[in-house]
Amino acid sequence: MAFKKLSSLNIKMILPLHGPVYRNDIAYILDKYQKWSTYEPEKKGVIIIYGSMYGDNENAAEILASSLSEDGVMDIRVYDASMVDPSFLVSESFRVSNIVLIAPTYNMTIYPAIDVYLDDMLRMGLKNRTFSLIQNGSWCPASLGLMKKKLSLTPSFKFTATEVTVSSSVNEKTREDLKKVAKEIVQSL
Ligand SMILES: Cc1cc2nc3c(=O)[nH]c(=O)nc-3n(C[C@H](O)[C@H](O)[C@H](O)COP(=O)(O)O)c2cc1C
Repeated sequence: MAFKKLSSLNIKMILPLHGPVYRNDIAYILDKYQKWSTYEPEKKGVIIIYGSMYGDNENAAEILASSLSEDGVMDIRVYDASMVDPSFLVSESFRVSNIVLIAPTYNMTIYPAIDVYLDDMLRMGLKNRTFSLIQNGSWCPASLGLMKKKLSLTPSFKFTATEVTVSSSVNEKTREDLKKVAKEIVQSL
């Protein structure tokens, strides 16, 4: 609404409450503001955010990324939540349409690095994204249900149908499930 009012003005400079003063590329910046403020993804693309203690979820992330690539998706990025600052993961979540979360179950909770990302992203009020959820657990997997509970508080979030459970490491069944998830993501893009 406010952006419509501004559209007739010849804007020379933007001085935001937070961040740098913009003197150049005003149209580019206004386009970003428009998308961020309406929660419209900048790109039809996929980020895969995984947590991994022993490498199995990293493997699942790579398998899913390969399947997506085989299915023709061009914009795919894979992030290790333990290595990338959550603020960066949040900005990536504003950029793309689809977010895949792969989380170990950690003493019957969500693996901490994924949980920190989730809370930060929810605090920023992101909307209108499609999530695909994958959990890992060796004896009593619980992270998927807990992630879904948090995400379900935002009514505009959608979920792809197949929920994947990795039992410690990827096997033939989970490999097939991951391929299914890739197809569902392609359909939702
Ligand atoms: C500290 C710790 C706590 C764990 N807690 C659980 C748990 O509560 N329930 C469960 O089923 N698995 C639990 N696990 C097993 C992990 O979920 C599983 O080993 C991990 O997801 C495997 O994926 P990764 O190889 O990518 O680390 C735990 C593992 C560790 C190291």
